[in-house]
Amino acid sequence: MHPQEDVTNPDRPSTVYEAIGGEPTFTKLVDAFYAGVAADPVLRAVYPEDDLGPAAERLRLFLIQYWGGPTTYSDTRGHPRLRMRHAPFVVNVATRDAWLRHMRAALDTLDLPSEYDATMWQYFTRAADSMRNTPG
Ligand code: HEM
Repeated sequence: MHPQEDVTNPDRPSTVYEAIGGEPTFTKLVDAFYAGVAADPVLRAVYPEDDLGPAAERLRLFLIQYWGGPTTYSDTRGHPRLRMRHAPFVVNVATRDAWLRHMRAALDTLDLPSEYDATMWQYFTRAADSMRNTPG
């Protein structure tokens, strides 16, 4: 038996990644999120590249890794160091709130069981706030 298996119920998913449906769920979340970013002039101005596709893929791979899925993000990009990676971009209250608004709408499209929704939302709100690097 695999040592990390839950002996009381070996079929019970052991990561959020598995519990919410694995890769397709994260693809759906990030697609919905970036559709919102693309349509938001305030946020669109913060993202440096015309093509949001590569940025979407980096976020998708990061979230998959963070929630217990494959570690492709760090295998290809190294340690996340997210605060450092956001330093070139204006993250203030307005862009943080816009970012979170689109992530809230994207999470809503998943219709997750409430405990998973709450766990992920708490992470997003805290992490987005920790990325602030510009007053106002
Ligand atoms: C939960 C909070 C957040 C997470 C987990 C997150 C995650 C990420 C990741 C993984 C990347 C790519 C890093 C890399 O490998 O280079 C990235 C890039 C970026 N993020 Fe965030 N981010 C968050 C909050 C924000 C906020 C609040 C803003 C505000 C506008 C923002 C704006 C950007 C921009 C402009 C980029 C560059 C796009 C690109 O990758 O080319 N992020 N973010």
